[in-house]
Amino acid sequence: MKNSLFSLLAIASLPFGVQAKVTPAQSDSAYLFAYSTLKSEGRNGLHFAWSTDRILWHEIGPEHAFVKSDYGPWGAQKRMLNPSVRWNTEKAFYEVVFELNEQEHKVAYCTTPDFVHWTPQDYYDRSVTDYFTNPKTELRLPSSGVVKGEMLRVAWPLVAGLISECQRAQYQAQIDGERAADDLQGRFRNLKPLQTSVRVIAEGQKDISDRLIGIFFEDINYGADGGLYAELVQNRDFEYTERENHRDKSWGPLKAWKCEGAECSIATADPIHSNNEHYVVVDAAAPSALLSNEGYDGIPVRQGEKYDFSLFGRVVEGKSGRVQVRLVSTSGQLLAQSSINLTKGAKWSRMKTVLKATASADVARLELCFADAGRYHLDMVSLFPQNTFRGRKNGLRRDLCEALAALKPRFVRFPGGCVSHGNGIDNIYHWQNSIGPLESRKPNWNIWGYHQTLGLGYYEYFQLCEDLGAEPLPVLAAGVPCQNSGVGGNGQQGGIPLDQMQDYIQEVLDLVEWANGDPKTSRWARMRAEAGHPKPFGLKMIGIGNEDLISDVFKQRFEMIYKAVRERYPELEVVGTVGPFWEGSDYEEGWRLANRLGIQCVDEHYYNSPGWFINHQDFYDSYRRGATKVYLGEYASHIPGRANCLETALSEALYLCSVERNADVVEMTSYAPLFARKGHTQWNPDMIYFDNVSVEPTTGYQVQRMFGQNAGSVYVPSEVMLSTSDSRQLGAAHSDVFKRIGVSVVKDDDTHTYVVKLVNYLPVANEVDVDLSSLQVAEGQPVVWDETVRGELLTGELADTRCESVPLTNARLESGKLKITLPAYSFGVVRLGVANVR
Ligand code: AHR
Repeated sequence: MKNSLFSLLAIASLPFGVQAKVTPAQSDSAYLFAYSTLKSEGRNGLHFAWSTDRILWHEIGPEHAFVKSDYGPWGAQKRMLNPSVRWNTEKAFYEVVFELNEQEHKVAYCTTPDFVHWTPQDYYDRSVTDYFTNPKTELRLPSSGVVKGEMLRVAWPLVAGLISECQRAQYQAQIDGERAADDLQGRFRNLKPLQTSVRVIAEGQKDISDRLIGIFFEDINYGADGGLYAELVQNRDFEYTERENHRDKSWGPLKAWKCEGAECSIATADPIHSNNEHYVVVDAAAPSALLSNEGYDGIPVRQGEKYDFSLFGRVVEGKSGRVQVRLVSTSGQLLAQSSINLTKGAKWSRMKTVLKATASADVARLELCFADAGRYHLDMVSLFPQNTFRGRKNGLRRDLCEALAALKPRFVRFPGGCVSHGNGIDNIYHWQNSIGPLESRKPNWNIWGYHQTLGLGYYEYFQLCEDLGAEPLPVLAAGVPCQNSGVGGNGQQGGIPLDQMQDYIQEVLDLVEWANGDPKTSRWARMRAEAGHPKPFGLKMIGIGNEDLISDVFKQRFEMIYKAVRERYPELEVVGTVGPFWEGSDYEEGWRLANRLGIQCVDEHYYNSPGWFINHQDFYDSYRRGATKVYLGEYASHIPGRANCLETALSEALYLCSVERNADVVEMTSYAPLFARKGHTQWNPDMIYFDNVSVEPTTGYQVQRMFGQNAGSVYVPSEVMLSTSDSRQLGAAHSDVFKRIGVSVVKDDDTHTYVVKLVNYLPVANEVDVDLSSLQVAEGQPVVWDETVRGELLTGELADTRCESVPLTNARLESGKLKITLPAYSFGVVRLGVANVR
């Protein structure tokens, strides 16, 4: 477990409520009682109590969880029942076994040398687990009442270790809980505006990765269908299935469709393609029957814009017929119209037309009006604005892509997240299902509770990367589904059966062939060329796994894939995974695996509180250099209520300054999640909220943009000093103040610019001067600055979710010093051009 330096320094001096009052003065051993309780139906993990005489028991915490169940989905599972513990003399560790629930005859198994450090859990059928024993001892404990558990006799240092681990965790929780709202009343009660000097140090500069700031796109919160993917018809393929969304009773193959003057049903007998088996049958008894689609909360229509309409159809009874296609507002106003002719026969034909809008409406519907009575089969009913990003067909929303482009992302990770590894192995995202003609793509249910058409598929993702000037980082499952899987049994332990792993590995290798291969020699590359991209996409990296449980099942499969990819494509960077948290068994075991295999880079994830980000700016300082690099692939600062606001955004800005300082270890970062359709979120906070007609970048987005637009190629060290009078007024608050001043100076070799980033996470203004006099263009040749000082400032109220930056007007250069006053709670970026570049 990695402890923050900040945490460790402070731990010893703090008072805690841990019950350590009785220590075994003469004895060197104690009784340790391991138990779980039925509180929260057994979701509170493994607890310990200790005693020297088996009469007086001291609960540690009380009820501190030393390990929790990792099994199955949150909410329904993650339970621990009847834990039993035994010492394995041969291996010198404790083995812990517990039951998972009352229904499945399964147990979890994990080991620990000290009850502080744990291996990830493996799950077995109870019948095959010979070491399973029922806990025998019953005790009445002061906070838990009567509990059953396991009594052990252990050396006292082990108990002392548990007490101090509990103290560490409590201290961690205390600093993680630090909130800016407490600044004025509490820690910074008497703080006056500050004067700070920053000395830029020319020595010790280090290269920054050229892909430090990127984006992570996942189809969560309707990020793809109903979001970035510009398709306006919802459920165009009639493939919605009830299992996708249990909350919405109207969910199914006719979701979002309405039939008037006709009977509509779903058939599968003779589909356009076996991957897309459902289609609608419209039985129109009389002329003028209507089939309409409501879009995603309506279809937005803009006067003067053109919309590409298409469908696959056939007339099976009645004569070949004309179908009027129109866009109609909620008040009944006709906004656009055209028509198509459906032909009679058994063959599916694709019909197209263009609609030009003569009026606008934010909420409209698509209507298909059948001129004649008859029986019609329809599928893939589609409407796209022509005005997509870069005018691409089957394209992406221009406004959302422009918001992405403004971030200047250096890479895009896709398609998930949890979407990549799926809910159970049947839900794993298979990239090859997402390419080729739209009607042949294989839709899938979305782990977040809706439908993926895969219309936005790998080809479109790669094209987006190219359009953004970003590198693609596709993430494929490591042969295991999501660690929180609720289907298929066994949580993540239900990996792809080993006898099917070769096929899966081939699938991974085929992706590289599809992306980079030569169409003349590779059938996969030919598919890419046929889709419109004969040139290779230039894939340089690939992610294997997403915050998985680093169990034996995972390790075996990951290693098989990893070795095959490395052998076949040694030039490709493989990004591994180290679990969902910044500490704990998956983090530790994931790093062990990365070190053992020498993986080039691993993906770390953590969603933490502002206090965590403030107090862990040293997180990467102690990481090994010249070894496995870090991709901070998912992170965000969270507060209760889960707003993305100035308070969270500034803590991310502080942390990103520390990441720039450690850019020799951290080579990529991406905030998560990226998009959220308003009214359809499964996860908050997100970076960009949107509906059909508006895009609302959050305050956190502005921080990402300011870092993305002001990335550097070289990190220049600096040190922060407070004026003597300020140091005196601060007293005990001294280190708290330091932690809330973020500085990062970088050089951008391409534009011959220095960028100074300054974060003031304090309730008072900070007058900063930055001494740049040590900087030189060459030995003995100090930098001469050009006249203009450009910059921007992000500030506002702590709770503001939509802050926008303003030009920084008070920054100036005076005798080699940059002078600037940062208001309370603000983030400023200043760019200084070098005039005497040789
Ligand atoms: O970003 C949202 C989710 O968080 C991702 O899908 C998953 O990887 C993580 O748990």
